Amino acid sequence: MSMKKIGIIMHGATGRICSTQHIHNALIPIISEGGLHINSETIIPRLLLVGRNKTQLKKIAKENNIREWTTNLDSALSDKDFSIFFEAAATHQRLETLNKAITAEKHIYTEKPIAPSVSEGLHLLKRVENFNLKHGAVEDKLYLPGFQKLTNIINDKTIGEIVCFRLEFGWWVFNGNEVPSQRPSWNYKKETGGGLFLDMHTHWRYVIENILGKISKVVSTSWIAQPERIDENGHKFSVDVEDTTHTLLELENGVSGSIFSSWATRVRRDDLVCLYVDGTKGSAICGLRDCWVQDNYETPIIKGFDIGHEPNKGKTFKDYASEWKSVDDHDPFKNPYRVGWEHFLSHVIANKPLRSSLKEGIKDIQLAESCIKSSKEKVWINIKKI
Ligand SMILES: NC(=O)c1ccc[n+]([C@@H]2O[C@H](COP(=O)([O-])OP(=O)(O)OC[C@H]3O[C@@H](n4cnc5c(N)ncnc54)[C@H](O)[C@@H]3O)[C@@H](O)[C@H]2O)c1
Repeated sequence: MSMKKIGIIMHGATGRICSTQHIHNALIPIISEGGLHINSETIIPRLLLVGRNKTQLKKIAKENNIREWTTNLDSALSDKDFSIFFEAAATHQRLETLNKAITAEKHIYTEKPIAPSVSEGLHLLKRVENFNLKHGAVEDKLYLPGFQKLTNIINDKTIGEIVCFRLEFGWWVFNGNEVPSQRPSWNYKKETGGGLFLDMHTHWRYVIENILGKISKVVSTSWIAQPERIDENGHKFSVDVEDTTHTLLELENGVSGSIFSSWATRVRRDDLVCLYVDGTKGSAICGLRDCWVQDNYETPIIKGFDIGHEPNKGKTFKDYASEWKSVDDHDPFKNPYRVGWEHFLSHVIANKPLRSSLKEGIKDIQLAESCIKSSKEKVWINIKKI
């Protein structure tokens, strides 16, 4: 088997998602396990880290045993040894940076949202195609073990025909007053590409469409639960994008469902994100890792409200959660970002079909954009075909 190095520019290398998930949990394991076997070749990623802060770059390079890093994006882009450009820096600079990388004729792999709007995304796609470059968008959530198990349960018809679904996501993100905020401040400003719709509905689009069916229309409402926050430098600022949202969705197959996404809610559910799906023969719920199912034989026959509590006799109420079965793990866990990289590298090297192209990334923005519009205008929005 012959060995081949493939040069990858990692832009935004000091950011949370790039340094932890893409570098430490995805590409470094591929490298340290001897590379990726594609057809008769072994592909070894060669990483060039790009960021703005020298000290942080050096630190991340050292921690991951990477020799090449630079603060000069233009010099990185002019290096012909690096044919792939990966973009994971802050959202507001993405379009300009990707356009530069396309001009430098690099294959493009990018974090979400791939562009600020559908029209800008389509323009980007046109440019990539004109340059005949390969392209991909990070759509990692589908490879989470919980979602994979749910997909299998739905596909093998364990729960019959789907009748409805509900996706719930979120946790409390401190505003910085009593406890420092655990998310970067740019997430709460419009000018830096913040807002919950753009951040999370860009995920929920591909999760819902790949597991349940194509979305035909949506209606949303959203609000700012915490209007004032304190940033990384201790400065107060006003939040001008939504931090809490409700969305109703209709799918082309007739199924309806909802999404509740919030950075102003406290967790009392099975996981940080849960997708509940009800079907004619049973129901299934998944979190990040696990999935639970209840078929018709195990479904309790509920005849009405039962508070199950007689004075002085202690609590005797029913534990509904205990009547669900956990779905077994079949496949060993693989980091979802690593799965994305393996697919993208196979696409670049061997032209293998890629599910998460830039076009899919544009559809992700389309859902966010439609929800923003719906929330503003208080109307249902039809999702047009892209
Ligand atoms: N796929 C996912 O699940 C997922 C999760 C989190 C974040 N993201 C996306 O990844 C991106 C980064 O998010 P993060 O949480 O790592 O944020 P972060 O704030 O930790 O990192 C952002 C990085 O961008 C850099 N940066 C900021 N402004 C810049 C500019 N003008 N030019 C160049 N670099 C700049 C910062 O120095 C930092 O290194 C966002 O677009 C976000 O939407 C995706």
